[in-house]
Amino acid sequence: MTAHKIAVIPGDGIGVAVTESALEVATVVLPGSRFEATTMPWSCDYYLETGRMMPENGIEILRGFDAIFLGAVGWPAKVPDAVSLHGLLLPIRKAFVQYANIRPHRLLPGVEGPLRTSDFDILCIRENTEGEYSGAGGRVHRGTADEVAVETAVFTRTGVERILRFGFEQARQRSGRLASVTKSNAQQYSMVFWDEVTQELAAEYPEVNVTPYHVDAICARMVMAPETLDVIVASNLFGDILTDLGAAIQGGLGFAASANINPTGNAPSMFEPVHGSAPDIADQGMANPIAAIWSLAMMLEHLGETEAAKQVMAAVEGTTASGVGCVSGAQSTNEITQAILAALG
Ligand code: IPM
Ligand code: MN
Repeated sequence: MTAHKIAVIPGDGIGVAVTESALEVATVVLPGSRFEATTMPWSCDYYLETGRMMPENGIEILRGFDAIFLGAVGWPAKVPDAVSLHGLLLPIRKAFVQYANIRPHRLLPGVEGPLRTSDFDILCIRENTEGEYSGAGGRVHRGTADEVAVETAVFTRTGVERILRFGFEQARQRSGRLASVTKSNAQQYSMVFWDEVTQELAAEYPEVNVTPYHVDAICARMVMAPETLDVIVASNLFGDILTDLGAAIQGGLGFAASANINPTGNAPSMFEPVHGSAPDIADQGMANPIAAIWSLAMMLEHLGETEAAKQVMAAVEGTTASGVGCVSGAQSTNEITQAILAALG
């Protein structure tokens, strides 16, 4: 078998340390002949040196890889977020049509969330290429009293249908329950359109029980009755917000993993922890590497390394069950990583 070629972008802040942890885990579960990592220095420091977050042909460089593993992007004291994220993270999601952003929200053994219940297992599927993140808009009359800023959400039939179909497929493989999220009581064009496409697809998936929710109502439900939810499918911005809430109920951002998937396989998919660069705790060695290591497991699964992915999750779960990595700040990044490596044997 030839090696999986992985582009690794540690990026900024705690992204660097948690990526190192994930790579250590990868080299233990897969022999070098099956895993070949190439690290890219693309980051805010790279921007300060070159004036770009990645080279001009960065997308073409990445296209040759089987998958991308990313730590975090952003360090607002060095580069404004709107520059760094539009220079590195967001263009990759769009250019490679990674339209399904998949984020699992469940409590690992031993982790205490803020809710009274630990009985939930939610899979959020976030549209990742259009919607409120379309990038369509502009500003006129800058700096004057007449200044106008417009940022238009764009919902295409192609984009809406493919993410909803992905949601139906996931629901079919799990409990058969799908929550489709809009705000169609207030937004009468795009969100009503989303509801209509949901109903069209529902006819094709009679085995899936689909419930439309408004985004405000599902926020409350995720806190009050998360056990009633299974697969959630939402637009780009709604999915962004819901998955920080999902991270919170699973114990914090240190546990929130994600996969940016191109389901057609005609371009690389990207795997990243949800937490971001966290400049306030960067370089302290205290970041929880579990979100990154869980994201690695999602990457291994995507690459067809099902056994290795299972081993990684079993080691993570064994580690948290033993009380290591459960509470942020209780152990260092290195202590948690070593415990997971030891659990791998
Ligand atoms: C996420 C992040 C990004 C997003 C930011 C950093 C642009 O919050 O992956 O959830 O909004 O997609
Ligand atoms: Mn987010």
